[in-house]
Amino acid sequence: MSISSNVARPQAHSLPVMHCLHSFPRLPRVFSIVFIAAVVSQSAVVAQTNWISAEAGKTDFQLHPAKPVDPSLVLGNESCVKCHAPEITVWKATPHAKTFDQLHRQPEAKQIAAKLGLRSIKHSGRCVACHYTQQSAPGESPHVIAGVSCESCHGEAKHWVDVHHDYGGPNISRLAESAGHKADRIAKSVAAGMRNPVNAYLVAQSCLRCHTTADEELVNVGGHSAGSLDFEFVSWSQGTIRHNFVASEGRSNATRSNEKLRVMFVAGMIAELEASLRATAVATEKATFGITSAQRASRATKRIQSVAQKVDEPILSEILEVVASVKLKLNNQDQLTQAADRVAKLGFRFAEKNDGTNLSALDPFVPKGRK
Ligand code: HEC
Ligand code: HEC
Ligand code: HEC
Ligand code: HEC
Repeated sequence: MSISSNVARPQAHSLPVMHCLHSFPRLPRVFSIVFIAAVVSQSAVVAQTNWISAEAGKTDFQLHPAKPVDPSLVLGNESCVKCHAPEITVWKATPHAKTFDQLHRQPEAKQIAAKLGLRSIKHSGRCVACHYTQQSAPGESPHVIAGVSCESCHGEAKHWVDVHHDYGGPNISRLAESAGHKADRIAKSVAAGMRNPVNAYLVAQSCLRCHTTADEELVNVGGHSAGSLDFEFVSWSQGTIRHNFVASEGRSNATRSNEKLRVMFVAGMIAELEASLRATAVATEKATFGITSAQRASRATKRIQSVAQKVDEPILSEILEVVASVKLKLNNQDQLTQAADRVAKLGFRFAEKNDGTNLSALDPFVPKGRK
């Protein structure tokens, strides 16, 4: 993966996983974005947004944008291993785990850090937000314990770890749990901050938080890539990083049904829209970061438009109305952040409401390749 500050990269960059998606738009060749004023960048920060509340079907909880984990609530993989050993074995072979030992040695990483005047890669909050997991004991300062780890994608676990596997008492097995208890357990885990993959949107939000670089200075000054422009949730989650062992109690790594993959396919597009609206929101200068972020938001919108023409799902029209009401322009932080918050709620509701049976028209477009 090369890091480039070249403004032309989005056009030149091919989207291999999308080859089969003939009718799904790539990044546009001509900028469709309105740039009103190019203001000299002040020091940009990773988008910070407040928690928002969502009325998600039957459950009522705080739905929040994906954000770096809170080190004081991180338990670390040792707290998962007694029940999730096969997942950990899969994870250890992924770039997410390996970045822990590799990133700080890479010349490209050193160059980025030097351009930003950072003395340490592993200890600078700037890189830690997306490349590492930090933990802190009460009264101690945070220290790095791993690369991108379980809790980076599933949320810091302190408040949900005991809830998420409690089937209703020590004598009740997974298969004996009542449907009502299960729904309640999942809702409680989510309310306690778990990005539970039962709702595909919650984990897609994690991916896109990191795979969209919402930090203007990191891109424009540091020369970091503006994000993984070829990210696609199905193909990127079903290859090397797949770790679906629950149904077989650890025996085999399951693939997903077509129905589930359809939901993930669309949830990934919505999460990409949300993340690129948040990135565009913090853009202040007409350069690689702002241009790429706005183009990506516009591309995600076109993809959702294309899906909305193929399936009957009013939530998609609601999302398109939200985007139509805002301008993808510089220095428009409040409006774009509010739009992203609304898209987040709708994305969650989309994944909660749809089991995929109504989305069969998407089958020819759901990627078959696996990264
Ligand atoms: C005491 C055993 C135990 C521990 C410890 C544990 N889990 Fe689990 N976990 C389970 C069980 C059992 C399930 C299956 C729940 C179900 O049937 O829905 C599960 C499911 C999950 C799921 C999927 C949720 C779902 O309903 O499909 C995730 C994600 C997860 N665990 C992450 C973690 C992480 C991260 C840790 C460490 C911080 C952890 N777990 C620690 C037992 C455990
Ligand atoms: C917003 C999240 C985010 C932040 C913050 C971030 N990175 Fe990255 N970085 C990524 C992602 C995601 C990739 C994967 C490559 C891609 O698709 O862009 C990556 C890739 C890289 C690569 C290429 C490595 C490879 O093996 O492909 C280097 C080098 C790098 N980052 C250095 C840094 C440094 C140094 C910092 C801190 C100054 C930093 N990054 C901060 C998300 C981030
Ligand atoms: C905390 C930040 C973070 C989160 C969350 C995250 N990633 Fe990543 N991901 C990275 C970084 C950083 C890299 C690059 C690591 C390296 O090469 O040094 C990466 C690399 C990858 C790669 C390898 C890419 C390649 O070119 O081979 C895949 C696949 C991937 N991520 C998929 C996902 C998926 C799917 C999700 C969500 C379920 C996700 N990631 C969530 C930070 C993150
Ligand atoms: C890069 C992001 C990412 C990381 C890191 C990650 N997960 Fe997951 N996890 C996901 C996604 C996405 C799914 C849903 C995948 C699917 O449905 O195919 C998932 C699903 C699960 C499930 C449910 C699988 C099933 O059979 O239903 C469990 C359990 C789980 N993860 C535990 C863990 C544990 C433990 C770790 C740490 C070793 C971990 N995850 C690390 C993204 C991640």
